[in-house]
Amino acid sequence: MTEKDNVPGHVAVVMDGNGRWAEQHRLPRLEGHRRGARIARHIVEWAADAGVRQISLFAFSTENWARPKREVEGLMALLATMLLKELPKMQKKGVRFRTLGGIDALPEKARQAVDRACLETRNNKRIDLILCLNYGGQQEIIEGVKLAAKWAATRDDPEQALANLDTDTFRSFLWCAETRPVDLLIRTGAERRISNFLLWDAAYAELYFCDKYWPDFSEQDFLSAIDDFTSRERRFGLTGNQLA
Ligand code: FPP
Repeated sequence: MTEKDNVPGHVAVVMDGNGRWAEQHRLPRLEGHRRGARIARHIVEWAADAGVRQISLFAFSTENWARPKREVEGLMALLATMLLKELPKMQKKGVRFRTLGGIDALPEKARQAVDRACLETRNNKRIDLILCLNYGGQQEIIEGVKLAAKWAATRDDPEQALANLDTDTFRSFLWCAETRPVDLLIRTGAERRISNFLLWDAAYAELYFCDKYWPDFSEQDFLSAIDDFTSRERRFGLTGNQLA
């Protein structure tokens, strides 16, 4: 598939507001996550249809472990069921499933489902779905620093190697090494925070905030975000004149 002009190659989403949606409808928080999971399924198709090549969804942060045990267990169970159920559709639609984050810490069933989805969809080419699980942007950078120090220690002059370390080389030590930098970062739920999401790779992302709770996010909302993106001038630190 060829790249579409002006469409963000990599869209990242903070799917916020499941809990407040549930509260608003007098439903248990987990019902909010279930509805949210449905929208997560849909957004992958909306993105693929729009010509987006990678979509990263923030499904579970390193901080989310501190939520009530029931909610954490419910989210992990939802992850395992949803992944296995969606696998045939991901195959059919050409979705390559990948993850970012500390997958080893997930409960056995969730980990097995993740491993299976990664393995079985590895040759799909239409769009990458990158589910961020047990993910933290600061943790990703710390792990990158540790790898960079190990790498430097193997060089003839470790001190010089570290002194000359540039952004491209450092990025190769990060979990996101194989994804492209984020072009558009969408956050729902009426909050304006990055919340430790893709700190390195969202350095030049265009930010888009939608006040709706995630379970209410629609295809029209997604297309509005894409439209808004196409109207932005991305300067990457240059002046408008330089770009012209
Ligand atoms: C933030 O809303 C959302 C999450 C912490 C989980 C996101 C998960 C899904 C959309 C479902 C898909 C799940 C998996 C595991 C694939 P919140 O609960 O913080 O909402 P609130 O701010 O209104 O409380």
